[in-house]
Amino acid sequence: LPWQEDVSQVLEGVPGDIMEKVRILADKAKGMGYPIYLVGGFVRDILLGRRNEDVDLVVEGDAVPLLESLAREGLDVSIHRRYGTGTITFSDGRKVDLATARREFYEYPVAQPTVSMDSLKHDLYRRDFTVNAMAVCLSPQWGLLVDYFGGRADLKRGQLRVLHNLSFVEDPTRIFRGVRLEGRLGLRMSQDTERLAISAVRGGLLNLLSGPKLRSEVELIFLEKDFVWDVERLRELGAWDAVFPGVPVGASGVKALRKLSMFRRRLGKDLPDFGRDVWLAFLGGLLYFGSPWGARGAVDRLSLSPREREVVEKILGDLGAVESAIGAKGEMRWSVICKELERFGRLVVFAWSGLTDKWRVRRRMLLYLTRLSKVLPMLTGRDLIDLGVPRGPMVGALLDALRLARMDGEVETLEDERAWVLKRLVEA
Ligand code: CTP
Repeated sequence: LPWQEDVSQVLEGVPGDIMEKVRILADKAKGMGYPIYLVGGFVRDILLGRRNEDVDLVVEGDAVPLLESLAREGLDVSIHRRYGTGTITFSDGRKVDLATARREFYEYPVAQPTVSMDSLKHDLYRRDFTVNAMAVCLSPQWGLLVDYFGGRADLKRGQLRVLHNLSFVEDPTRIFRGVRLEGRLGLRMSQDTERLAISAVRGGLLNLLSGPKLRSEVELIFLEKDFVWDVERLRELGAWDAVFPGVPVGASGVKALRKLSMFRRRLGKDLPDFGRDVWLAFLGGLLYFGSPWGARGAVDRLSLSPREREVVEKILGDLGAVESAIGAKGEMRWSVICKELERFGRLVVFAWSGLTDKWRVRRRMLLYLTRLSKVLPMLTGRDLIDLGVPRGPMVGALLDALRLARMDGEVETLEDERAWVLKRLVEA
């Protein structure tokens, strides 16, 4: 029998805008006589008192009629009949996924009939870790935690444990998922689970992952808040050696990543918002210390798009030349720093700011990122034409020169800018 516990109190703590949707779906399932459960990462996170926006529900029976009925009531529902799943999108944009608990005979037609599990248990058993394999019943019994595999106790002990010995073999991406959960939630793999992870890595299972799959896992690692921890943990498990041969992930790489992580924390909104692309800077930082063939192999292995590949290749390219260009002692005009750096793009400069060990270069790179790259003239192209600049390439060229003049403090007010433009016109 599963461990059961009343956690309706915990549900009380979930933000109302989420629970409101959960209630609508639970009521509907109840009306149709289907048992319905919250499952997966959402359950794990609410038990930890953490916010999670991704609501996953599982229905025992068949989710499709339930989804169809919700659609008839005017909800925005997309249904995948083949898988017995669907997504409901509410008017505030919030999405909830609904799936049918899979009974074993749907999946393994030749499985031994001796093990008979109810469908919820089987659905949960397919999952990665015990802490992700708990369910909270919403109907028939509101707020009942159903825990077949000891996830609750593991969560309390801070332990990450696979459900069975073949978990990493079934899906090697779980090695990365496991590390992310450890880092994010402060969990730690049990001895057995760690042993299984290491032997999956040693057995070459990560080589079976397709490029896009591996890329997505590595990207998610770098998008974690404390990704440096994850990077070191993956090193411990041998994962980097396995996926990026020829790229020794060592002290220098980790040090560069630490710096980047610190700059991001300290400079916050003063840094450009790189969005998800920021992971490419971290990847570049890691690959920088590999052999050229190793780094190229890694880029190939991840099936990066041409644009992404270009960013990484630039990072691996010519830091030395840039260090000489902007490393001079004494004063350096800001426009000169800007011109040297802007042809590489801000993301590349960001990666380099962690990689260079020349403090003057680093300072100038950060100056470029936090200030220089944001400087714009007050006048527009239209204004220039009104001042008598002929239409054509001269407009752009003057605007650009004006931006650099502003950077160097040659102009400050709108009047300064106008005077500056008129002077150029007279000279031209
Ligand atoms: N899952 C799995 N093996 C995977 C991916 C997912 O067993 N390789 C299971 C996990 O138990 C997870 C569920 O499927 O709880 C849903 O997957 P996903 O939506 O990717 O995970 P979440 O739990 O929503 O995300 P997270 O754990 O990052 O919060």
